[in-house]
Order: sequence, then structure tokens, then C-alpha cells
Amino acid sequence: MRTTWISPVSAETKAKPVVVDGPSFALNGKKVSYRFHVDSVTGDLISDHFGGSVSEDPVAQILTNGGGWSTQAHIRREFPDLGRGDFRTPAVHVKHAKGYTVCDFKYKSHTVIEGKPALPDLPSTFGQDEDVTTLVVHLWDSYSSVAADLSYSIFPKHDALVRSVKITNKGDSSISVEKLASLSVDFPHSDYEMLQLQGEWTRECTRTRRKVDYGMQGFGSNTGYSSHYHNPFLSLVTPTTTESHGEAWGFSLVYTGSFSVEVEKSPQGLTRAIVGMNPCQLSWPLAPGQSLASPECVSVYSERGVGDMSRKFHRLYRQHLIRSKFVNETRPVLLNSWEGLYFNFDESTIYKLAQESAKYGVKLFVLDDGWFGDKHPRVDDKAGLGDWVVNPKRFPNGLKSLAENINKLKAANSDETLKFGLWFEPEMINQNSELYEQHPEWVLHAGQYPRSETRQQLVLNAALPEVQEFIVKSVSNILETVPVAYIKWDNNRGIHESPTPDNHHAYIIGMYRVFERLTSKFPDVIWEGCASGGGRFDPGILHYFPQVWTSDNMDALDRIHIQFGTSLVYPASTMGAHISAVPNDVTGRTTPLRFRAHVAMMGGSFGLELNPDVIPEEDKALIPELIALAERVNPVIIKGDMWRLVLPESSNYPAALFISEDGNQAVLFAFQIRSTSVHNFPLLRLQGLDASAMYKLEGQGTFSGATLMNGGIQYRFGADYDSKVVFIEKV
Ligand SMILES: *[C@@H]1O[C@H](CO)[C@@H](O)[C@H](O)[C@H]1NC(C)=O
Repeated sequence: MRTTWISPVSAETKAKPVVVDGPSFALNGKKVSYRFHVDSVTGDLISDHFGGSVSEDPVAQILTNGGGWSTQAHIRREFPDLGRGDFRTPAVHVKHAKGYTVCDFKYKSHTVIEGKPALPDLPSTFGQDEDVTTLVVHLWDSYSSVAADLSYSIFPKHDALVRSVKITNKGDSSISVEKLASLSVDFPHSDYEMLQLQGEWTRECTRTRRKVDYGMQGFGSNTGYSSHYHNPFLSLVTPTTTESHGEAWGFSLVYTGSFSVEVEKSPQGLTRAIVGMNPCQLSWPLAPGQSLASPECVSVYSERGVGDMSRKFHRLYRQHLIRSKFVNETRPVLLNSWEGLYFNFDESTIYKLAQESAKYGVKLFVLDDGWFGDKHPRVDDKAGLGDWVVNPKRFPNGLKSLAENINKLKAANSDETLKFGLWFEPEMINQNSELYEQHPEWVLHAGQYPRSETRQQLVLNAALPEVQEFIVKSVSNILETVPVAYIKWDNNRGIHESPTPDNHHAYIIGMYRVFERLTSKFPDVIWEGCASGGGRFDPGILHYFPQVWTSDNMDALDRIHIQFGTSLVYPASTMGAHISAVPNDVTGRTTPLRFRAHVAMMGGSFGLELNPDVIPEEDKALIPELIALAERVNPVIIKGDMWRLVLPESSNYPAALFISEDGNQAVLFAFQIRSTSVHNFPLLRLQGLDASAMYKLEGQGTFSGATLMNGGIQYRFGADYDSKVVFIEKV
């Protein structure tokens, strides 16, 4: 039997963002409250509420010892440790010099800060004093002289709460941090479901929902990166929550390394969620005086379903996470050389492909893998990684001259000339490289254990300052000499051998230093993250790069699933989405060009990844029109709100609506996967419009918001893989 869920009452609070009342703390968003207090007897922090707005602590008649075997089992703890009677999974685990792992963190003091300080060495959300307020609660373990600072920042407009934790060793012997979760939250009841994004290479971000049952359930990454397997994101929902109704809590970890998500329903019926760095790859040593800061976890609450939770993440991330100046800008339609030419090219074939691209109206030509390596030229995937000098045989006149010639090409149907972009994989190395000959010690390894290869490549140890310096120099050398407008930063394997567990986190910090230096030095470059597709599609990367390659799978049907899944957390503006040739080289499926293009233009960075020479004549004729359409929808995709109207996993007719922030423009995407015989077409009911306003649907007439949302639109579709893109304007 399921509990009957009563809909939360929607109340907007005008309460101050942070209210401290004696021992009790409240963080208030527009429609969210988060509350906890200091226990007057123990000095521990006790959670009181995370959900819709409240003005005092919920009325609880349960004594802290609710009966049973443990005195702690009914307590909702704000920063749970292990070793003092709470037998659930802990948020913190510190190993002291003498070997014990008990902690005794008690409230000491707190600080309220207007705005939000940046996290040292880590990507983080940011905002002005009027956007965000921060509460830091200082905890102190007097037995070990270890301090824990819990930092909470509330973005009231977005109903978003950000938490991170810092441990400081103020004792006189070294300690080791074995586990440090960014987020730990104890919910009072037990009837939740969890929503997560699992996947693989070419199948990223598959939505998965399951009941939270007794005991531990979770997921994470041991790969060294966030990875394709599981996105660093968790949502808890009530059993009746849908896209547009019910409560949803979202937790998104701003981190690119190995992570761990644990959800535990205790036998007493409480539910704990823990999100943070992966404890298997931490064991972080702290000498006296040193600190370790966790990455931050962004929590969002909505009482209006999973879709509303997603839109809150999207707006927050566009306004307060992504730093690139391109975040609000339309992105140039690009053509990437990879699927058209793979490794088989030289200066003249590349220039010819760029000329072709210009004729179709492409604005940015991207030279992918295979342009570098002198002594060990990169002509296949067995050599050259690490040697970031242009291949003089393929490009006897250098990259600069190629890029300048491409910059002179005029893009058809516009006044623009072509920009030039380039592929890099700077964290990787082939044994067949000059770099490996000079610096075999720079490669990640564990003593004498074999350095195991994937795709014939090894990983540089980015924890080493000399490796960071090398990467910054190698990329800068090219950017200082060649007019590069875009970089695709790839990363094609996971981390195997590592010298120590803590090296995993040190590597990620090292890469963040590299990203920080390069993106501030070259702010005019559009940086795109990539890791065999979406293997590092996470908020940590998005702090530095405004867009990420969503998947190596460009099959349009699969892409609807992947892009809808990715949009659970990440705004459409951040997704790279291209058209490739058919049959698709991953799935073998053939879909019409128009359908492929319509799916791809739901991503912020639209492009082509094919050789236009070898596609059918009728498709060639269609490309300029599709590019023009992609450019027309792009402003709404980049800056608008996404409403997932119909999900691909539950319908043959998936659909999405993008609405500009001011509500004046919208674009509707409607798809038919399989044609059906003599069966009525569904009514597509729009969402997110103003019921009393009138809207002009291009080519279809003018209707009220109420008619479009309550009545709906019925479209006639034809063959398999049919699609429609409809412009909507408020009149
Ligand atoms: C992007 O637009 C948002 C408003 O939607 C604004 O808050 C933000 O500052 C803009 N960012 C940049 C870099 O222009």
C-alpha cells in the first residue's frame, strides 16, 4: 500500500533568504524552505525540513529517541558521522593519526555572508549579493581539533540550495579524510522513488526510475571521471510525481571526477541521500593546518514535477554556473571533419571540405583528430597523442595558413566568413610519441604495475604541476599562432592505475587549474567538452566550457532519448548536436535528413558531421534550408525554457516546447517515430503559455493560450520518422 500523498500547498515566501533564530537556521527560496537546528543537549545539527515553504519547524511529536534499539535511528542528522551510534551511511569519515575514525562535530558558531565565495580550486556557482546569500556553520571536534565548515548558499529566485563542506586539521598530527560528502539530507518519511541517468558510450543519460527500498541503493563512478555510466545527479520524487505534477528534489554534483550517490531507507522508515566524491578514491591526507574542501552539490526543489525541477536547474546553470561569455549567444553552425574523413586527409582535402561547407552556409569549420605529430604522426589512433605540433607532411604550409584561408571563405546565404575550430585531447598520450620518450614518468601509473592501455593510449598525471604547465603551453602555442575560434576538448578513456587514491581528486583539481588558465587566457574561444561523447557531461565542466558534445551517437531516434535525458539537469544550450550520414554508423538505422536535423536543432550547438559530397542529391538541396531553420530556432534554444511535453520512453510521439524567457517566442518540436495505420493522432497539449494571451502559430492561425494548453493541437504525420517544427509568437 502506498501512502496517499497530499499535494503541497504552493506558497511564495517573502522571508529573508537566511534567518537565524536562536539555535535554528532557515534558508528560504521563493517556494522552498530548508531548516535545521542545533540540539540543545548534544550540540549536533538536526535537520528539520527541506521542501515547500514553511514559516516554522514542522510540528513533530516524535522524541529524538523514537524507541527501538538505537538512540540515533530516528534522528535526522545534518552532517552524519559514523562511530557514535548512527548506524546509517555517514557523510564524513576521518581517520586520525592513532587510527580511530570517530568524529564528534558540534556546533561552534556561524557566519552569514551576502553573495557566495568561490570554492578554492573547484568550479562553483556564483552570484551577486542580491542573487545569493551564504550561511557557514562552523563545527568543531574538540577531541581531535578538527573543524568542519558546512556552507549553504541559497539562490532564492531559483529555489536552489548549494552545499559544500570543508574539513580543517587544527591538531598537531596528520589525519586522512576517507569520505567527505557534499550533500547529506535526511528525509522524515520513506515513500520515495529515485530518478537517475545511467548509460554507456553511445547511450548516455537514459532515464531510470525505481522505488527506494529498505537498505542501501546507489550508483557512482570509479572511472576517474563523472563518466557515461552514471551522471552525477539524483532526483528523489514521490511515487505519484510526473513531469508536470508532484514533488521533486534534484541533487546535482558540481564535479568531474569519480563520485558516489547513496540512498538509504532505514528500517525505521527514514530516507537518507548522500552525494559526493567517491570514497574509494579519496583517502586525502591533511597535515596540521591543511584543509580539504568538497565540491558543491546543488539541490533544487519543485512541487510542480520533474519538468519544473529541470527548468530551475537550467536557469540556475545558465545564469550562475557557466562562465563563458557565449552562454547566452547563438552558436555558429559547424561542420566537423571527423565522420566525413576520419584520419584520411591532408591540407587539400581539408580545405576542399571547408569550401564545400561554406557553399551550404556552414559558419565554422572544425578540423578533428589527426592534424598533429611530427616524429610520430597521428595518422591513426596508435601514435602522436602528446605531440601537439602540426603534422608537417599533411600541412606543409602550417595550420595558420590553412586557418587564414578558411577564414576567407564566404558562408553562403550570409555576410559571414568561415571560422576555424580544432580538436585536442590534451590529457592523453600514446607510447608512440616524443612526449613519452621524454617523460614516461608523467603517465599515471602505480609502481611496477603494468600501465594498461585503452585505445592504445595512456593518461597523463594532471595532478603534477609540470603536466598542467605542459598542457597549458601546448594548447596556448597553437592558440597564440593560429586563429582558432572553437576547441573540442576530448578525453577518450578512463583512469586505471593511479599512484595513490587521493591522486584521483588531485588530477581533477589539476585539470580545473588548466581549464581556469586556458579559458581565462582565451575567452573568445568557444570551448566544447567531449569525452567519447557525453562521458564528462557534468556541471564541473560547464563552469568552464559553455557546451559539451552530448553523444558520439548521432542516430536521431536515439538522440531524442539522449537529449531528453540530458535535459533532466542540463540546459539545451549546453548540448552539442549534429547531423551525420545514414545508415547511422552506430545503430545502422536510416532516418530522413529533415528528422535528423529537427532533432539536432534542439541542441544549442547545431552542426554537420558528414562529407556533403557523398550524400544524396535531394539531401544536398535541403541542407541550406535546414541550416537556416536551425539558425532561426537557435536563440530560443539557447536562452529559453524547455518543456518536455511528451517523453520518448512513453510515446510514439515525443514533443518538446521551447519558450523564450519573456514568453513572447516559442518553438514547438513534434515527432512521430513509427507510422501507424488507421489510428488517430494524439492531441498535443502545450504547456507554459499564458492562458489568456493569444498566440500565432506560423501557418496555422491564432489561438489563445488556454486553447493550446487545454484543447491542444492535432497534427497529421506521414511516414516513419516524421517531424514538425512550429514557430509560435505571442500577439
Ligand atoms: C545571460 O543571461 C542571463 C539572463 O537570462 C543573465 O543573468 C546573465 O548575466 C547573462 N550572462 C552573460 C554572460 O551575459
